[in-house]
Amino acid sequence: MNYLSPSILSADFSCLREQIQLIDTAGAEYVHIDVMDGAFVPSISFGMPVIQSIRCCTDKVFDVHLMVEEPIRYVKEFVDCGADLITVHAEACVHLDRTIEAIQEKGVRAAVALNPATDLGVLKYILPKLDMVLLMTVNPGFGGQKFIPYTLEKVRELKHMVDNQGLSIDIEVDGGVTLSNVKELLDAGANVIVSGSSVFRGNVSENVKNFLKLME
Ligand code: DX5
Ligand code: ZN
Repeated sequence: MNYLSPSILSADFSCLREQIQLIDTAGAEYVHIDVMDGAFVPSISFGMPVIQSIRCCTDKVFDVHLMVEEPIRYVKEFVDCGADLITVHAEACVHLDRTIEAIQEKGVRAAVALNPATDLGVLKYILPKLDMVLLMTVNPGFGGQKFIPYTLEKVRELKHMVDNQGLSIDIEVDGGVTLSNVKELLDAGANVIVSGSSVFRGNVSENVKNFLKLME
């Protein structure tokens, strides 16, 4: 099953409720929420109060991507403000296994994100515990960047790892995903598609519908 997860980082924050309702009504299944701490990545985006206040705008899955150092410190807070799925970066966790367990103990799904240059080998032991893996297809920190071509092969390799172990783990791709490269990413094995600027620039409903058509 394929899912579209529009990243609200590229939305118009002055009318976030309307923007979320647009992607919801157009059929997106997830809402991708990028939390940046100004330490793991250069920018600061938004945190729990914003997530809590948009929780009432939709019943769709809140897919919370934490670009935060030692996110284990905030697991409870993100669950309390409405996260359904929490992604942490392998590069940001000293105790990755403990962090994943802390998320799942709260009854929400857990995922590990890898920066473009991070080896898939870090997933070797933890893969069976995960609900999803997020492969960054740009360097995290900003919306609207260009897709890094070598990450396509990385998606294929991860898909083989997952299949070889007989697992059924979602593979999410994030960064520089457009209507022109989404098909290749799906063919490579991704099934959760994040897109920020390609959804929120221009006609939002049309953009969502165009993505969903390619993802059927
Ligand atoms: C980047 C974020 C992405 C970003 C994607 O650090 O994790 O989710 O919003 O935006 P686009 O689709 O514009 O690359
Ligand atoms: Zn993201």
